[in-house]
Amino acid sequence: MRVLMVCLGNICRSPMAEAVLAHLAPAWQVDSAGTGGWHAGEQPDRRTLAELRRHGIATPHRARQVRAADFRDFDLILAMDAQNLADLRALAPPDATAAVRLLGDYDPQGGGAVPDPYYDGPEAFAAIFVQIERCCRALVAGAAPR
Ligand code: 4NP
Repeated sequence: MRVLMVCLGNICRSPMAEAVLAHLAPAWQVDSAGTGGWHAGEQPDRRTLAELRRHGIATPHRARQVRAADFRDFDLILAMDAQNLADLRALAPPDATAAVRLLGDYDPQGGGAVPDPYYDGPEAFAAIFVQIERCCRALVAGAAPR
């Protein structure tokens, strides 16, 4: 299974989702990217790294922007929120083969979008970790999306 996690900046939410899924499903090919490219080359936000570290998870990820080849190179592209999803649908090339949906579609608690924590404190990063982990566990367990 090849899964690409996508948010806006690729420094807060999607690198966290990538690291959590890679941790839960080591045999899967997992990556993350942003619909925007402003942070390309950067490490994840220090608050994302701190929250991951609290759970014993490390990540070597560097931010990058979504590219056309991603829509063929991955089976599943998972957006964090509705804007990311709309941007992805606009970016998809005609020969796209990946399924594109919300990570929250896998949330057994019906959580919906993973909210942007960029302007919030560490508690927001702790909250999205719980939400992301719940979705990733369901995905790995083979749950059908909503
Ligand atoms: P992310 O969070 O999309 O979860 O990586 C953001 C990171 C940076 C910005 C916005 C959201 N920004 O505007 O720079």
